[in-house]
Amino acid sequence: MKFNDAVRTDIANSVLCWLATVDADGMPNVTPKEMFAAHGDDRLVIADIMSAGSVRNIAAQPKVCVSFVDVFRQHGFKITGTARIVPPEADDFADLSADLVRMAGPDFPIRNVIEVTVARIARIRAPSYILFPERTEDEHIARTQKTYGVRPL
Ligand SMILES: Cc1cc2nc3c(=O)[nH]c(=O)nc-3n(C[C@H](O)[C@H](O)[C@H](O)COP(=O)(O)O)c2cc1C
Repeated sequence: MKFNDAVRTDIANSVLCWLATVDADGMPNVTPKEMFAAHGDDRLVIADIMSAGSVRNIAAQPKVCVSFVDVFRQHGFKITGTARIVPPEADDFADLSADLVRMAGPDFPIRNVIEVTVARIARIRAPSYILFPERTEDEHIARTQKTYGVRPL
C-alpha cells in the first residue's frame, strides 16, 4: 500500500508516533518516537535514539504497528508492516536517515534507522467525527484547543 497526501499531512502534523512491537514470546511493547518520517511511497523511517527494546523485538519478530494522530485535528493513521533495523554501516543508512538526522540535529545521535515497509494503512478518527458529522475540521480544532487549554501562537 502507498501513502497518499492525507497520510503525509498527518505524519507531518503528528508530534509523535507510537511503535508497537512484540518480543519472541508475543509480549507486546508500545513506545513513543518523535523522530519519524515518510520515506518514498511505502516506507516509514523511525530514529532509534534510545529504543533498545523495540530494536531487540524487531530482530526477533519484524511485524510492527505504528500509529500517529494529529491531536488538534483529532485524526491520524494506523500502519502495519514489516520492520528492518538499518545500522550506520549499511549501504542505505545515509539515504534512509537523512530526514531523521535533519529533524534530530546533532544533540540526538541516531543509532539505527527502523525502516517499516507498509503493508496496511487504516484511518484513525476521533468518535466525534462519526457522532457529529456536521462539525467542520475547524470546529474540531477549536474544540480540541479549548479542551486542552491551548491557543495558537
Ligand atoms: C516525547 C518522546 C519522544 C521520544 N522520541 C524518541 C525517538 O524519536 N526515538 C527514540 O529512540 N526514542 C524516543 N523516545 C524515547 C523512547 O520512547 C524511550 O526510550 C522508550 O523507553 C524506548 O522503549 P523501547 O526500548 O521499548 O523502544 C521518546 C520519548 C518521549 C517521551
